[in-house]
Amino acid sequence: MNMQIQQAAMALKVARSTIALTGAGISVESGIPPFRGRGGLWEKIDPMKYAHIDAYERNPAEVWEVLFLGLIDVLGKAKSNDGHRGLVRLESMGRLQTIVTQNIDGLHQQAGSKDVIEFHGTFASMSCMTCGQATDSHQVSLEVLPPRCACGGVLRPDVVMFGEIIPLDHLQRAQMLASTCDAMLVVGTSATVEPAAYLPVIAKRSGATIIEINPEPTPLTDRISDITLLGEAGRVLRALVDAVKHILRD
Ligand code: OAD
Repeated sequence: MNMQIQQAAMALKVARSTIALTGAGISVESGIPPFRGRGGLWEKIDPMKYAHIDAYERNPAEVWEVLFLGLIDVLGKAKSNDGHRGLVRLESMGRLQTIVTQNIDGLHQQAGSKDVIEFHGTFASMSCMTCGQATDSHQVSLEVLPPRCACGGVLRPDVVMFGEIIPLDHLQRAQMLASTCDAMLVVGTSATVEPAAYLPVIAKRSGATIIEINPEPTPLTDRISDITLLGEAGRVLRALVDAVKHILRD
């Protein structure tokens, strides 16, 4: 592991541009359960039944009761952890430019990361399905479900649900960054949901070094990833940041 940390630190030192792709795993140490695997949300809730846009259009109140209310509760209590802070430290050392996150929890921004592409949207705002007006989620009453806009239309969180496409500006910028970076850190994602899972493939094809951080192997491991750091994001990123600091001093 020490050897791989050194290799990863060296790759981050020489890269002119590094981006990170993060997933639910980076927020596990903040108390937010992942979607897949042991204790994953999709083990308890069928995403096609409750996280699909068709389900929301059919019965928004039910989606709120089964899925969104619980999520809002967990997200409201979560604080950023050493994994998020490790990426902030890399950014402040000039070793990380942009984070593409699949997470909707806002914890990268809470930790202090400046350039975050929220690939799957955010829970921080909601939009009216009738007039399109956006509202800060904190200002939305959840006493009667589904929440409604002043115009009477149903509000929806600004997250990408199954059956929806990634906002074009996010997709284009993420793909452009993936195709031009020299290194990509892939942290805490099962790399199973497209098109996010394809970003490391684009980066690899363009010649970037792929560094994966995850306690479990993923479809990227040994195929796309050049360096795999097996372990929890917080601990591994602490060690990686220390190694980068050390190398930059030499
Ligand atoms: P997943 O739940 O699919 O995968 C979480 C990954 O985090 C797994 O590979 C775990 O091994 C890893 N992991 C667990 N604990 C960790 C830790 N402490 N440190 C680092 N890694 C850890 O989550 P995503 O890949 O983010 O989309 O899922 C992608 C998308 O699927 C989500 O954005 C969501 C979901 O359906 C939508 O809702 C549109």
